[in-house]
Amino acid sequence: MPDKAKVAALISGRGSNMAALLYASKLPDAPFRLVLVASNDPDAAGLELAKAEGIPTFALSHKSMNRGEHDAAMDKAVRNSGAEYIALAGYMRILGEDFVRAWEGRALNIHPSLLPKYPGLDTHERAIEAGDTVAGVTVHLVTAELDAGQILGQTEVAVLPEDTPESLAARVLFAEHQLYPRVLADYVSRPFDAAWLLDQVRVRAMDLPEVEERPSHGAPGWRTGGKSGKYFAYFSDQHHGEDAIALLAKTSGIDEMTALIERDPDAFYRPAYYGASGWVGIVLNRPGADWEQVEYWLKRSWQAVAPKRLTKLLDAADEF
Ligand code: GRF
Repeated sequence: MPDKAKVAALISGRGSNMAALLYASKLPDAPFRLVLVASNDPDAAGLELAKAEGIPTFALSHKSMNRGEHDAAMDKAVRNSGAEYIALAGYMRILGEDFVRAWEGRALNIHPSLLPKYPGLDTHERAIEAGDTVAGVTVHLVTAELDAGQILGQTEVAVLPEDTPESLAARVLFAEHQLYPRVLADYVSRPFDAAWLLDQVRVRAMDLPEVEERPSHGAPGWRTGGKSGKYFAYFSDQHHGEDAIALLAKTSGIDEMTALIERDPDAFYRPAYYGASGWVGIVLNRPGADWEQVEYWLKRSWQAVAPKRLTKLLDAADEF
């Protein structure tokens, strides 16, 4: 098992979602832990709770600071904490583009509506006014556009005929506290999950010209070039007792394979059997696995085995 993923929670007030994350992180097998609770309001109630539970805190009022400066100070505090992910939990500040870009794919938010319905404020009021019979909560990735990033999870909550925005909010909050820890746990576990990793490799391999997936000795593999086609990639899920979940790709030969492993032994290894013919293992189940590198090796490997008529096509496309 990898180390627990380090998460910073950003709050502005009560912090009940942060508390839900915090207590979920204390359960056996939780894949994440909170390393910081930070707030733009030094009086946020959630800070006291975090302190009492021994979680480091950071508070910096945004008043009398411009957005860029405040974002940068928060970003610095988060980085200093060693956090790998950010969980926005009732953080009532819109984050600037620089901040969002720096944390792209690693910052989550919880929003009390079934997005894409009702981004922004007053979600419960708007749901009731619209006569909705179902409201709910969404956890999504943070992007520059408010409440618009990829949806990672949602829970529906029934609207009762006599609901006020407050009574509905209180019920939605139960759902929030269930959903957020679960979605965060799944999200931080993905980079170590064989099924998810296989999907990532598969979409990239299948994106190359004339590729078919066909198992080889029980492992997923990809070939190109039609009937007499050759394999250019295999997916190895801890085969032969190895630790790695990996992509096996074809290098130009043993020398190149050896050089790669020497240069970056965390990312590359010599796979059993295949190593002997110059295939290299690219480790996928590690923090910060590099998907551009995976794409590069898939393409190189494909080029090494694809028939001329196909490589010509790709070369022509590259020239554009
Ligand atoms: C929650 O309803 C959350 O969905 C929204 O702000 C509220 C924060 O509540 N983004 P808390 O501070 O987590 O108790």
